[in-house]
Amino acid sequence: MRFPITRPRRLRQNENFRRLIRETKLSVDDLIMPLFIVPGSRVTNPISSMPGIAQLSVDRAVEECKAIRDLGIPGVILFGIPDHKDAVGSDAYNDDGIIQRALRALKEQVPGLLLMTDVCFCEYTDHGHCGIIKGQDVDNDATLEILVKESVSHARAGADMVAPSDMMDGRIGAIREALDSEGFPHLPILAYSAKFASGFYGPFREAAESTPQFGDRRSYQMDPPNAEEALREVELDIAEGADIVMVKPALPYLDIIRRVKDKFGYPVAAYNVSGEYSMIKAAALNGWLDEQRVMMEALTGIKRAGADMILTYFAKDAAKLLR
Ligand code: PBG
Repeated sequence: MRFPITRPRRLRQNENFRRLIRETKLSVDDLIMPLFIVPGSRVTNPISSMPGIAQLSVDRAVEECKAIRDLGIPGVILFGIPDHKDAVGSDAYNDDGIIQRALRALKEQVPGLLLMTDVCFCEYTDHGHCGIIKGQDVDNDATLEILVKESVSHARAGADMVAPSDMMDGRIGAIREALDSEGFPHLPILAYSAKFASGFYGPFREAAESTPQFGDRRSYQMDPPNAEEALREVELDIAEGADIVMVKPALPYLDIIRRVKDKFGYPVAAYNVSGEYSMIKAAALNGWLDEQRVMMEALTGIKRAGADMILTYFAKDAAKLLR
């Protein structure tokens, strides 16, 4: 392995050599597109901090999902923004709630696309926290009861997979048990297992209208410096019945993605979150970065780290380039 006998540049000299030895290949198969659903019809409400992304009414989401499916993307994850928010986020488990209506329409009008739902309460509560408040904090066990109701309601409306993002302890087990006893033993759970209390969710909170009205989410989302704890969270979720485990955000946590993949060998999802998207968009709009190039580099890096699938607002743009 010594120069001049070994010259790594020999296999870099043209694109065909590079193609032959390329280790990581990003594919449209790896992508999941997040969508924000709002009440009304013919609503396309652009999110200023996320250029290219908009809140959509159900009819517009149907059109968007047809385009997503026709690009070959396997699935979408839906976030609902209800008309009416209250202390317990009751629209989240109303069989006629915003997500339930979207699921029924999409199921019927866009066959062949996986419909995943974010299971959480921050978009539905008037205080913006991810569960029921007791004192100044979210009450874990009381929240489990409504997370279960929300998941079962999504399943009844046609969800193909539920994705709890609340970070309450024990929620995967509680949801698994309820889905099984309500007739959905085959419905998989995508667990937001290692979800960090991140500043990179900033633009999402504009998109989902879910900024906490007091305090922050640090008493339930993970502390960014912790990796061993992330592995314990993943281990718990797998033991409770998670089918796919998620690391979120993606780019500042590539080490966690790699360690989760190596340690458990489970399907791993990574969420390339709103702030990661907006940073690239903002720099590109200023002419400071080549958008397509850094988008593909970032997504490929997430896959190289060990992610089997990537939830990303770039899903459509990347799919167009990958075709
Ligand atoms: C919670 C949820 C959040 C995101 C996905 N699910 C926000 C939060 O925890 O505050 C963030 C996704 C993103 O930033 O793109 N329901």
